[in-house]
Amino acid sequence: MLKPLPKIGILGSGSGSNFAAIARAIAETRLHAEIALVLSDNPEAGILQKARALNIAAEALPKSKFRTKLEPEIEALAAEKLMLAEVEWVVLAGYMRLIKAPLLERFPNRVINIHPSLLPSFPGLEAWTQALEAKATVTGCTVHWVDAGMDTGEIIAQAKVHVLESDTPASLHARIQVAEHTLYPATLERLLHPEI
Ligand code: GRF
Repeated sequence: MLKPLPKIGILGSGSGSNFAAIARAIAETRLHAEIALVLSDNPEAGILQKARALNIAAEALPKSKFRTKLEPEIEALAAEKLMLAEVEWVVLAGYMRLIKAPLLERFPNRVINIHPSLLPSFPGLEAWTQALEAKATVTGCTVHWVDAGMDTGEIIAQAKVHVLESDTPASLHARIQVAEHTLYPATLERLLHPEI
């Protein structure tokens, strides 16, 4: 009998290009997984529209009064929705809030993020602008385990991107995203299927 595909839940706040890259990798059988649920803290987020266009369950969470985290009750609701969808792996893709106990305790060692720099350099917002301001010649992206800090969890995989003299924040971010779209699905495949 074929083994069931591991179910992943994706959390995002923005356009959802990493979600789209993961969905494409699944369609092309480069990633053996099923996206069981997409959740967003932003009802207008492109990630929700992209998921619904692919007939993937996608829901907005109740509005939070905080900017950098969710109220514990809202995060607990997110964890419950993911558990009801039988999600085994929580994949953050452009999710702009810190993750706290409600999710970390229900998904121990199962929450993963991608960040647009070579961590530990340039954690936090607009990592590509930070790289330009620091005159870095190389930056990139990092897939890492999520803990309660900001981009502080253990590093799983990285890809380098060279900074060009002509780069603007937008051009550098665009090239980092191209690297993310390859690194994230490939790293997830390795994590979800260590036996292969
Ligand atoms: C990505 O650059 C990711 O590294 C960061 O947020 C951005 C999300 O982009 N965490 P998208 O919504 O996947 O297009």
